[in-house]
Amino acid sequence: MTVWVGTSWKMNKTLAEARQYTSELLEGLDRLELGTVQPFIIPPATALSAVAGALVDDGRVLLGAQNAHWEDNGAWTGEVSVPQVADAGAQLVEIGHSERREHFRETDQTVRRKVAAVLRHGLTPLLCIGEPAEVREAGGSSDFILGQAARALEGLSAPELSRVLIAYEPVWAIGAAGRPAAPEELRSSFAALAGSFGQHTAGLLYGGSVAEDNAAALLGIPHVDGLFIGRAAWEADGYLRLLETAAATAGTPAAGRLSPDTNESAEEVGTK
Ligand code: PGA
Repeated sequence: MTVWVGTSWKMNKTLAEARQYTSELLEGLDRLELGTVQPFIIPPATALSAVAGALVDDGRVLLGAQNAHWEDNGAWTGEVSVPQVADAGAQLVEIGHSERREHFRETDQTVRRKVAAVLRHGLTPLLCIGEPAEVREAGGSSDFILGQAARALEGLSAPELSRVLIAYEPVWAIGAAGRPAAPEELRSSFAALAGSFGQHTAGLLYGGSVAEDNAAALLGIPHVDGLFIGRAAWEADGYLRLLETAAATAGTPAAGRLSPDTNESAEEVGTK
């Protein structure tokens, strides 16, 4: 089973910084045994083609865009389309991040149209879902994210659904103002997602304050197929350390998971 470990740089990095990061990453990967771990990086649109130049021939790291419009072209000032990001080298497209929903008025409907556009052009959608703090406090997390996912994926055929990656990112856990989630807080959401979408999609990822000290434990949550990382992977060496942790966790099935013959908790096992 593929373990997806990727990062979005959000609105960060000049072209020079993007190239530097990419060459450090590729150099670092020469020293890593990735096993089943699939890395992906999602630069800002301005850096896509510069990063693609280095990544495409190499082939080890997938490239993504942070957003794309649902129309292929037209009078949509300031937007970029799926064919445009594909032309710049993107293989996957992040859709519906909570920052886009909050600041750019993305709705379940626009998210659904974008996911469909990404699939129509043969790229991989990385659909982001997650509940705000007040929904969590009221005990409605699972219903909320299942609803978001169902509305975003409505009408897709089984083969289309099988190409979708879902990143569950609780809004309250994202960014510098976020509170890192304890693995126990995430189990029921992943169980719910797995029950409804798990085996039908390409994978379920976790995102929100992923860091070196919690990555193994997060990967140990049942049904978590990968990590989607912000700040902790904005320097290539930080990302490489997280890839290394993921490769070690993926290579040892008991690591990060409750071991049937010991009393160790997932966290204890995962940090060894
Ligand atoms: P963070 O960002 O890791 O910096 O919390 C995660 C995200 O927004 O996907």
